Amino acid sequence: MNWKNTRFLVTGGAGFLGSFVMDQLKAKGAEAVTAPTIDEIDLTDTLSVRRLMADSKPEVIIHLAARVAGIGANQKFPAEFFYENLMMGTNILHESYKAGVKKVVAIGTVCSYPKEPKSTPFKEDEIWDGYPEETNAAYGLSKKMLLVQSHAYRQQYGFNSVVLMPVNLYGPRDNFNLETSHVIPAFIIKCLDATENGKPEVVMWGDGSPTREFLYIEDAARGILMAVERYDEDLPVNLGSGQEIRIKDLIDKMAKILGYTGKITWDTSKPNGQPRRLLDISRAKEKFGFSAEVSLDDGLRRTIDWYLAKRGKRTGA
Ligand SMILES: NC(=O)c1ccc[n+]([C@@H]2O[C@H](COP(=O)([O-])OP(=O)(O)OC[C@H]3O[C@@H](n4cnc5c(N)ncnc54)[C@H](OP(=O)(O)O)[C@@H]3O)[C@@H](O)[C@H]2O)c1
Repeated sequence: MNWKNTRFLVTGGAGFLGSFVMDQLKAKGAEAVTAPTIDEIDLTDTLSVRRLMADSKPEVIIHLAARVAGIGANQKFPAEFFYENLMMGTNILHESYKAGVKKVVAIGTVCSYPKEPKSTPFKEDEIWDGYPEETNAAYGLSKKMLLVQSHAYRQQYGFNSVVLMPVNLYGPRDNFNLETSHVIPAFIIKCLDATENGKPEVVMWGDGSPTREFLYIEDAARGILMAVERYDEDLPVNLGSGQEIRIKDLIDKMAKILGYTGKITWDTSKPNGQPRRLLDISRAKEKFGFSAEVSLDDGLRRTIDWYLAKRGKRTGA
């Protein structure tokens, strides 16, 4: 791969994952990288995407832009999650095919998987075997259409697009807005709030019984660039760490790192989300040599350290 001379377009380059993909592209020597923000180009608008292709003439596109958030926002705005993600994916793949782009690497999501797949860890070949968990179905299904479109365009036009499906991501620069954040930032914010403001407890959603798998953000970005360089096939590929943890155990682990010894209460009137999440990560290893390197303990510590440093505080443990 000639990183230096290839013209890249990164959608969502200013986002959480996008910022690390941009850093790693730069580290590889990529110089011709276009990464418009939502204020510059709204990717749900077909004509804007067409103009973007004409102006930036990308050879390789890394499509990361999406409307993304935790369970609460997914439940509140399912129509927006559906429409925006569907339109972004459709526009990017269609207009890139029409513009003669050489390759698109599009980022899907673990939320596209059935609520209770046939087997766990979840295998890519079993992704069509059921409806996703209700709280994130609109998001998961809109992104799942990337698989259908990518396959159809390869079949009819020989167009080279690949779809990667990352598990839950976490790390520095994550979304720390409590209204829209995922579980790791949400707990960090609530925990610090309780400690600093003398609150008697931290309240978390659900009963803590579901399991999740987490992939550290720099590993995710590295996996994506490995696929950019080495993977050109139709089959979708999971990106994960292969480590499953109960939410309750995750919270205990973070409380320890944060030095929080107060009460943690589980609000069972709030949804748990998908009961279990663990990806089969063998295809990524086999097809382009990717496996995660950062352990959950290490990654959590880095995330917490980053957040505390941003706020001008030090870790409690
Ligand atoms: N975070 C996770 O745990 C996770 C897990 C699996 C898969 N993914 C996938 O990974 C990708 C990146 O997620 P992320 O967590 O980095 O999300 P993020 O931080 O919210 O980044 C998404 C980016 O997309 C941009 N965007 C949204 N709507 C747009 C539009 N209409 N036009 C142009 N740009 C738009 C956002 O711009 P603004 O910031 O200006 O709104 C933002 O920069 C997404 O495709 C997501 O589905 C994420």
